[in-house]
Amino acid sequence: MTTATLEALKLTERINRIEPSATMAVVAEADKLRSEGADVVDFGAGEPHFSTPQHIKDAAIAAIQGNFTKYTAVAGTAELRDAIAHRHKVDFDSDYRRDQIIASVGGKHALFNALQVLVDHGDEVILPVPYWVSFKDIIRYAGGNCVLLRADESQGFRVTAESVAQLITPRTKAIVLNSPSNPSGAVMSPQDMTEVIRLAHERGIWVLSDECYVYLNYTGKNFSVGSLGEYKDRFVVLGSLSKTYAMTGWRLGYAMAPAAVTSAMAKLQSQCTSNPTSIVQKAAVAALKGPQECVGEMRREYIELRDHVVKGLRSIPGITCTLPEGAFYAYPNISSFLGRGGLKSASDVAGRLLREAHVATVPGEGFGTGDHIRVSYATTKTELDRGVERMRKFFGAL
Ligand SMILES: Cc1ncc(COP(=O)(O)O)c(C=O)c1O
Repeated sequence: MTTATLEALKLTERINRIEPSATMAVVAEADKLRSEGADVVDFGAGEPHFSTPQHIKDAAIAAIQGNFTKYTAVAGTAELRDAIAHRHKVDFDSDYRRDQIIASVGGKHALFNALQVLVDHGDEVILPVPYWVSFKDIIRYAGGNCVLLRADESQGFRVTAESVAQLITPRTKAIVLNSPSNPSGAVMSPQDMTEVIRLAHERGIWVLSDECYVYLNYTGKNFSVGSLGEYKDRFVVLGSLSKTYAMTGWRLGYAMAPAAVTSAMAKLQSQCTSNPTSIVQKAAVAALKGPQECVGEMRREYIELRDHVVKGLRSIPGITCTLPEGAFYAYPNISSFLGRGGLKSASDVAGRLLREAHVATVPGEGFGTGDHIRVSYATTKTELDRGVERMRKFFGAL
């Protein structure tokens, strides 16, 4: 649509502040090619290739059969919120009460609600780069201004309290942390995280810690800011079942925060979606309270896949790739190809990789960097090999 047509529709100023998710755009284009018969290797999707574990599915089926199909409390059932608190306490030594927890329709929804209740027009939010696509747009939708913290690739995209401190102004309202990170896979050390939390607490700034990949940490040191109880009046822990239990389509995420924040979020949610789906809440309880071996098994496989794909990508002349320490993304640097074969940007690279080599990746611009593409390795080794070989040929011919 042209700008003139959009203006004639009189859509709100706030909806024009944001863009559709770059990741979703790739999924749509890859789907289109596939529907036309192309054999696309999909490194674009940000979701596990595993099926949801059986005991979780069984709990949802039992919930349907048992007619657990009515509205629940807006913030989720007491049973679910207690299960979230229990799991987090066992795994991260945190101490949250039921009224400090809200379950939402996915982690993205919890993040959206948290930013809406904490960020006002003109507030500044410090956002480390590369960032997950939705952070920027959700902050903007709330009226906030993103203050970008450019993390150094040669330092593994490390975010430190020192680098955060340099960006704090009287307007700083919040800092977003995301460890392990989508898209870089970078993991903050417990010490760096603690120092940022301490700094923010001292300055009266909120930290929103998106920990949706917290169980996909390959450093051997799973860490949640939730364990830093003495500072908890200034941070929000955001979690999700999507990646941990291969439940992306079920839509269940949560926030843990001071009760004043969770109740404001529940007020907003009560005027929007109301409760997350009742059946899904039962499945989530089964996930959180049931056997956790499935999480470890998936984690072990991701580590193998990570090693496999990074080795493959690094073997392509001209590509460099930091070792991701968590999540399921590699973030290869493709800048040596810019200026070659008519390629001007990471978007050009991802676009041509998709159209010419039939490999779907996500261009770095959506994550705030112009030198990278994101490769999701949540797939099989065979697919990784097929995709990497196509990339080798594509880049080799430039
Ligand atoms: C960093 C990060 N946060 C939050 C989410 C949201 O996940 P969901 O809404 O499926 O819980 C994602 C999904 O890709 C993510 O990568």
